[in-house]
This record gives sequence, C-alpha cells and structure tokens, in this order.
Amino acid sequence: MADIVSLRAAGVGVVLDLAGGTLPRVLHWGADLGPLTAAELADLRLAAAPQPIGFSVDGPVEVAVLPEQSAGWLGTPGLVGNRGGRDFSTAFRVASAALDGDTLTVEAVDAGLGLVLTIELTPQGLLKQRAVLTNLGDTPFEVDGVTLVLPVPQTATELLDFTGHHLRERAPVRTPFTQGLRVRENRTGRTGYDAAYLTVAGTAGFDDRSGEVWALHTAWSGNLRTIAERTFHSVSLLGSGELLGSGEVVLAPGESYATPWQYWAHGVGLDAVSARFHDYLRARPTHPRTPRPVVVNTWEAVYFDHDLARLTDLADAAAEVGAERFVLDDGWFGARRDDRRALGDWHVSEQAWPNGLGPLIDHVTGLGMQFGLWVEPEMISEDSDLARAHPDWIMAAGQRLPRPARAQQVLDLANPAAYAHILDRLDALLSEHAISYLKWDHNRDLVEAGHRPTGRAGVHGQTLAAYRLLDELRARHPSVEIESCSSGGSRVDLGILARTDRVWVSDCIDALERQAIQRWTNLLIPWELMGTHVGADVAHTTRRRHVLDFRAGTALFGHFGIEWNLTTVSDVDRARLAEWVALYKELRGLLHSGVSVHSGPVHGVVAADGSDAVFAIVATGTSELYPPGPVRLPGLNPEATYHVRPLPPGDIADGNAADWGVPLPWWTPTGVTLRGRALTAGVLQAPVLYPERLVLIRATEV
Ligand code: DGJ
Repeated sequence: MADIVSLRAAGVGVVLDLAGGTLPRVLHWGADLGPLTAAELADLRLAAAPQPIGFSVDGPVEVAVLPEQSAGWLGTPGLVGNRGGRDFSTAFRVASAALDGDTLTVEAVDAGLGLVLTIELTPQGLLKQRAVLTNLGDTPFEVDGVTLVLPVPQTATELLDFTGHHLRERAPVRTPFTQGLRVRENRTGRTGYDAAYLTVAGTAGFDDRSGEVWALHTAWSGNLRTIAERTFHSVSLLGSGELLGSGEVVLAPGESYATPWQYWAHGVGLDAVSARFHDYLRARPTHPRTPRPVVVNTWEAVYFDHDLARLTDLADAAAEVGAERFVLDDGWFGARRDDRRALGDWHVSEQAWPNGLGPLIDHVTGLGMQFGLWVEPEMISEDSDLARAHPDWIMAAGQRLPRPARAQQVLDLANPAAYAHILDRLDALLSEHAISYLKWDHNRDLVEAGHRPTGRAGVHGQTLAAYRLLDELRARHPSVEIESCSSGGSRVDLGILARTDRVWVSDCIDALERQAIQRWTNLLIPWELMGTHVGADVAHTTRRRHVLDFRAGTALFGHFGIEWNLTTVSDVDRARLAEWVALYKELRGLLHSGVSVHSGPVHGVVAADGSDAVFAIVATGTSELYPPGPVRLPGLNPEATYHVRPLPPGDIADGNAADWGVPLPWWTPTGVTLRGRALTAGVLQAPVLYPERLVLIRATEV
C-alpha cells in the first residue's frame, strides 16, 4: 500500500500521510481535491509539511490522529495511561496498514501495546474514526484516556457547540476559536443535557447556508471529553475521548479498550453538515422505514393517574383524531403510584391494573393502534422489592449509597446477575403482552457510579452494558421499536441511536422552546428520529399559552405525537387537531426522506429530487421589521418552477395586518408560480404574524 492515502466521497476529500512508519497524519480534510496522481500526492505532502521552528524539537512537528509527544506535539496527548507508573509516553510504529475500499486500518505497536486505528470515509462523506488499544504486555496497563483528533484549518476562527439543562436541551454556544483549549466535559454518566453534541469549527460568520465548517460528533452515551485546541504553532484541531474515571479501565494482559466512534462532517453551511449525517443515518439497514405512526403518550395527559376507564377514554379520543400508537407512560408497575418508588419491580401493578394490562392493550389494538409501554430498566428505587432483595445491585463507590436523584439509584448492569434479571423481566413483558414499542427512560445522572462488590468506577462498563441490553432485547424482539428518553432529551447521540428508533427530544413541549430545541437537535439527526408532541394549550413546563396551530405546526417537523388529555379538549380543537394529524400523515413521506433546510425565520424540508417542499415561517417573537419583508426558500432546484401557496391548516396568517383587513397579496390558495432560483433569492414576502405563530408553505414543482 502507498504511504499516502486519498479518500474521496460526496464532495469530501481526506488525504492521510503514513510515511515514516508513525501514526497517520491528516494532510487534508475538507472539500474534495479531485483525483490526485502519486506525484501530486507527494507534492501535497511537501506543500503541507510545517516549517520547523527554533527552540522546539528539531524537524517539523506533525500531529497524528492520535497525537503523541514523541512526534514533538505538546498539546493534548492522544493516549494517557501507564503500566505500573511506566510507559507514560508512546512512539507507536505502524506494523501494517490496509485500505479496503474507503476504510483504512492501521495497526501499530509500542510500549507493549497494540493499537488499531480505523478511519473510514462513508459514501455520504462522513469520516468515521476509532481506536482499539490492546495490552500485549504481561502486566496490567491503566488507560486514563484516549483522545482522537482531526486538524481544521486556521481559517476556522469560530466555534459552535451546545449546552443545556432539563427542559432546554441543545442550546447553541458560539465562541471565537482562540488560542488555547476549549474543553467540554460530561461527567453525568449519560449523554447529558449539556452534551457538546456537535462541535463545529467554521470560517467567520458561518451559518445555516454559508461558511466552510468542520464538525465532530462522538457516538457515546457515557462520560465524554470534547476539545477544540488551537496553538501558537498554527495547529487547530477538534477531538474527543471517553472521560474515564480513575482506575476505571485497567487492561489485563490480552484485554482491549475501544474508543467510541467519532463522526466528522465537512461542508459549506450547517445544512450541508446535517445532510451528511441525515443521509448516513437513513442509509443504515436498521433505520426505521415504516411510516412513523402518530403517537399519543399518556404522560402529560394523566401522569400517575392510571385507571382503565380513564385510559380507554383517552385511547378512544386518540383514535378519533387519527392516532396510530398509544404509549402508556410511567406508573403501571409495582407500587409506582408516584415517582418515589418501585423502579426495578417490573410487574404490572395489581392496585392500578387489577385485571392486568390486557384489557387496555386489547382496547387500544382493537381501535387499530399499536400499544407502547414506558420502562426505565437501568434504574432501581431504594424503595423497591428489587433493592430490598439485592442491595448490592445498586451502583455505588463502596458501601455508602450515592445521593439519590428523583429518589432513585442506578442498577449495576455490569453485574451479570442484575443484567440477567432485568433482561428476563423485559423479555417476559414483551413476550406476554402485545407491545410494539418501548419508551426507554433514564432519569438520573450517574453519581459515584461504581460496582459495589469491587468499588471500581463503573460508568464505562454501565454504558456498554446498557448497549448490550438493548441489543439483546432487539435481537429477541426485532419488531419492537424503542425510544431513547432520558428525563427528556439527555440521551441523544449516535451510540444510543444505533439501537433505538427515536429520541424524546425534551420534556419541554412548549412550542416556542421546541422551535429552538428541535432545530438544533435536527442539526445531527433527521426529523423521523425526533419525538415531537402537541401538548396542552398551557405548556406544563413553562405555563406559556400557545394556539393549537403553533403547537401542531411545531410538532409537524418530527415524529409527530400528542401529549394532552384529549378527553378534556373541545370539539373544535379536536377537529382542528385531526386536520393537523391528517396533514402530518400526508407529509410524513416528504418530511422523513427530504433534505432539512434553514434560512432565518424559515425552515423546511425539500424532497431529495427537489420536486416538492414544505416550509414553515416562524415568528418566535415580535418582528423588528413591519411588515417583516421577504424570506428565502432554501434548497429548491434553481431551474425548476414551483407552485407556491399557503398550506392548510397552516395557512392562517394571524397578524394584526390581516386582522385589520389588509392581507398579504400573494397569500391566497392560488399563491404564485415562480422559479426555484427566485424563491431562494428571496422574492417572497412573509406575512405579518403575531409573535409565537407560524404558517406553512407548500412548494410543488409544476
Ligand atoms: C421523564 C420523561 O422524559 C417523561 O416523558 C416521562 O416519561 C417521565 N420521565 C416519567 O417518569
């Protein structure tokens, strides 16, 4: 194999240098450079080699994807670990390198360690990378951290990543990419509300549709460290690695440690990055392909108030508006009449359900809906039969229990007996009932999460065990879909999504908050993987009041559902909701296969072939401009001609201008017919809207 590797896909080019037998260095990652001859690649290497500088190590310093001090790099090290206090620094030598299609596998050795790096460019232009470290020595090797990086150009002067908290997940943070280290650490033992999510470096002012951007996501649902580092020596890089607890990973001779997979996307504008991720996810064999059913979830409708008559009434109302899946949330098992007890006791409550779940399930399926059930398998209440029987199954640093959260503790899934028990209970539930769907919740951070018998730190093992549990259950019940929920949206990442079918985006279903949370969640994952529900008129988590059209038009972009006590809703609102359900059913084929686009107050989905599109114009607040002026409809085929018109029931342009009898001239069912080029250039006037309202536009190629 040549000692320089060029990978190209979907407009992305990656050139890796393997010369000299040290770990691979990235000569280029960005726009496709086209086919390169051997001579051009050699000159590219020469052109890209950094100039040596005085008073540093002699010779150029090249930073590998796993950076090492032995190469002269004094920034964040790729491997931190030791063997009884020795072997703290490595100089890996490549033993073999193989290129299989667009996947490069490099094997290297040093310090009694074997390292396998896998670097793959997917057909969608995403670069995937991970490392597996094996202890080849005959004494234990302690791994304190493995960080893999990719360089980004010096022209990337701004950073975007994410933070958040319960009810406000994935809030964007924009910072200058200055010299030094920006570190985002998640120690919550789950992906985290404040996960970095996507770390984007880009040229000044990059936005949805412009500016060159380089982005990193790490597919991991446990502790994680993500960095953006810029040095005086003209090196800028992004990187990540699992955040390991002290002594958490000690490799016995022959044992291996695998890093999480990193996913890297390049493009012009954030929408281009999203398109790569969405295309990649949609190409997976496991991607949900059946029409995403309209969900009714019982949580905000009845909370813990479980009662057969109440829930069959709700199911009737759900079916009437067109729901297709009915999900019974928390409160159906053991002594779980509130959120203080019984996690782990996965038996149907005789008190709440004297005749079992059968009558409700029969009623729901009799109405033509699927039945779904809430579970929280990784948790255990101190007040539960399970904890009383197996106190050693609770994760803890030793004998002292961690501080409770929501009165609950974490079940130690790395304990084989605990794992077998919970697998058996879930398997039995799915075997005994006609359950098509599990809402899989995870409602606390992992605090002092160790394995009680050994006292060893355990988030790493817990994360892998949770993955195994999901994988095993899916293998046994392949037709059951699973939703990843974690006190709302605290577990949204590509690791969990490799074994689940959608994420619950947030416990906040206030449509105004959801506009932001959903927009940014959609940066990584496509709409069909995002649970978006219509809540009550007064949002339970903010007490804000929104009109139904704003709530439903917000939930439309996602896997649509309803979380509202429909039995108390007026006939007028139920009829209106049924119209939105019908629209969702009409559009879900487009929404769940098309390209996500954003431009200012407009977001939308354009069919992959450009023939059809739906856009929302959203007024999140009052407009500075009055009237608000024209908007762009991004992503349309510039040459195609489109019939553009308001889309009912999202056609009510509620604003004071229309109320005063001066509607927007083109806002009629006839609409306008224009070239994509003109619509994207921004010729279309947006209607005056009241704040916290939206309207929909359909653009169909004629
Ligand atoms: C947190 C979830 O995010 C909610 O949707 C609900 O399922 C509750 N847990 C139930 O306890």
